[in-house]
Amino acid sequence: MSHTSAASSATQNDTATTAFGVDVGGSGIKGAIVDLTTGEFIGDRIKILTPQPATPDAVAETIAELLDRAEWEGPVGITLPSVVKDRVALTAANIDPSWVGADTGELFDRHLPGREVTVLNDADAAGLAEVAHGNPVAGAGSVIFLTFGTGIGSAMLLDGQLFPNTELGHLVIDGQEAEWTASSAVKEREELSFKKWAKRVNAVLTEYERLFYPDAFIVGGGISRDHEKWVPRLDLRTPVHAAQLRNRAGIVGAAMAVSRHLAP
Ligand code: BGC
Repeated sequence: MSHTSAASSATQNDTATTAFGVDVGGSGIKGAIVDLTTGEFIGDRIKILTPQPATPDAVAETIAELLDRAEWEGPVGITLPSVVKDRVALTAANIDPSWVGADTGELFDRHLPGREVTVLNDADAAGLAEVAHGNPVAGAGSVIFLTFGTGIGSAMLLDGQLFPNTELGHLVIDGQEAEWTASSAVKEREELSFKKWAKRVNAVLTEYERLFYPDAFIVGGGISRDHEKWVPRLDLRTPVHAAQLRNRAGIVGAAMAVSRHLAP
């Protein structure tokens, strides 16, 4: 999933303390320069609306524009809401279906020539970032890290190491994929109270618990900002912790992935 093409484009990466992270989402493509030592952004986060349809070429063009605006010429980590294996996107649950089978190496070679680019799953990126700069629980033992947003993303972690490309949001529970009933997009769409939605999340986490017996769950995504409204309502044997990086996690994890030349 990692793609390294640049010979020596990365003047800004010479000390490898900074990299650019891009988080591709259904509504916005967000990016920032990341201080890899602290996990903080350097300068502003830039957001451009996701082009519709969000085809690979349209998204790649938008990322090129984002990098222009940031005046960044170094390495770039990019998240996608897709399984990414050997640089090829294999799924496209909440993004244009034309991503399935897209060779991201070839794509970003064309749109971002001469750069080092790493592409990885959005929840995996967020999980890695949480381990490095977020809730300390993320780095110890067996942890299922989840992002609640348009879908449900998962990163499975063992002592901070990632088992990449797990897709727990698509586990079928009572005849329905988990993310069809319990994503935060569903909460909004069906105007569910936190109480009602937490019941659905509880059913999903109970199933994950029954299958994996993790030491802890960490819940992230924008809705983890309101964790006190729903996490205390969950009734599980496994402790549930709120992520600390929230929406920043994808960008930070993307930047970390390219700086580590990550290629699981
Ligand atoms: C996708 C995952 C992604 C998650 C969060 C799911 O629908 O299948 O790959 O991590 O949404 O965006």
